[in-house]
Amino acid sequence: MAESAEDRTKKYLDLGHSEAENHAKTQLELYEKRVKDTSSVTNVISEFFKTNLIGFAKHYLRSRFGAKHPYQAYPRNGDSGIYKLQSSIPSREEISIALLSDWASDTTESDAVANLVSRYSPDYTIHMGDIYFVGAPKEVEANFTAPYSSWYYGASGSLALSGNHEMYSNGNAFFQHLLPAMYAMEGEVKKTQQAGFFCLENEHWRIVGIDTGYTSVGKPFLEILSPPDCHLKDAQIAWLRDVVKIGDPADTRGVVILSHHPYLSAFREEYVRPGEQIKVLMGDSNRPVIWLWGHDHRLVIYNMFKNGNGPVAYGRCIGHGGLPVEIRLPDLVDLNKINYYDTRVRTVIGRHSLGYNGFVRLVLQGKKLTAEYRDLEDTCVYEECWTINKENGQLEWNVVDVIPGLAVR
Ligand SMILES: [Fe+2]
Repeated sequence: MAESAEDRTKKYLDLGHSEAENHAKTQLELYEKRVKDTSSVTNVISEFFKTNLIGFAKHYLRSRFGAKHPYQAYPRNGDSGIYKLQSSIPSREEISIALLSDWASDTTESDAVANLVSRYSPDYTIHMGDIYFVGAPKEVEANFTAPYSSWYYGASGSLALSGNHEMYSNGNAFFQHLLPAMYAMEGEVKKTQQAGFFCLENEHWRIVGIDTGYTSVGKPFLEILSPPDCHLKDAQIAWLRDVVKIGDPADTRGVVILSHHPYLSAFREEYVRPGEQIKVLMGDSNRPVIWLWGHDHRLVIYNMFKNGNGPVAYGRCIGHGGLPVEIRLPDLVDLNKINYYDTRVRTVIGRHSLGYNGFVRLVLQGKKLTAEYRDLEDTCVYEECWTINKENGQLEWNVVDVIPGLAVR
């Protein structure tokens, strides 16, 4: 059995031996200070209901006009965008990564999720996009960079992808305020994130964060009628091909793709184009990838699926970080795409039934990669693991544990 939250907290509070544990302790103390001062939360979750059209329009109109921030790509300032995964505790082989998507809402819920993340003191934390409402400087500050903000900075790295919301303000705050606060450690050297995509790797795994946000918005208003396709820009394609060498047939490491936009959805729009671009680079190989995304505010484990001409993927939607979590069922025809869907009701506000916010804790131990899907009350709703076969690059998948949600098998 996993240790309880209380045990873990105690452990990190009482044992201040390592830098990482001290780091966790500081973050927890900051959190406790914050919860005493409720004015540190800017928003209440009901402001994010989709019916709040006037609220969205106000933010949209204020920020949407003007030119996009110039695209940033590697090499930049001597950085290749590839970082070796390292444990923040030298004697520990295991590496943990917290993935949060659609988290940055600066609500009681997002604070609770961030606090839970801090209790696990993961080596890395990654925000997979969408800073509400429009990724403006004040919103980046409230969620990530102000002393009272609740984002947990991993001791080995903290990285960010852009969603569509960052681009509603043309990406200016994403590139100018958020990326300079993000980093990956190389030994003792802190390397600032230089572009909206990156690769973390070790001898068994490659975690490739791709940017689908920049191309997810087009011209104001037209984009609402005709949504852009989130394609990967040429500079990112060149990086995947020539620097990451994602098509190298001799490289049989497991590939985990992170993106903001869904490769597959049983509920709303899906974006096939980035997957097709990646598959072209990967060549004929039938090796599956693990792909986690957000954008859709719910937790869904999809069945293994090849969408269009994209790769075969173990697709997981983890957009339940900090916004109102949706729990309605998809149309019957789409239900069979789903292996597991967390439809539990956490609370009811007016006529809205909301599900559980949460995050994913990835744990890398040699050839094994475990994913724990934890809700804000620290219940592990679903746990699965993959083992990479380095002979042929194939993945063996096992479900470790699951608590009742909606399961379709
Ligand atoms: Fe989004």
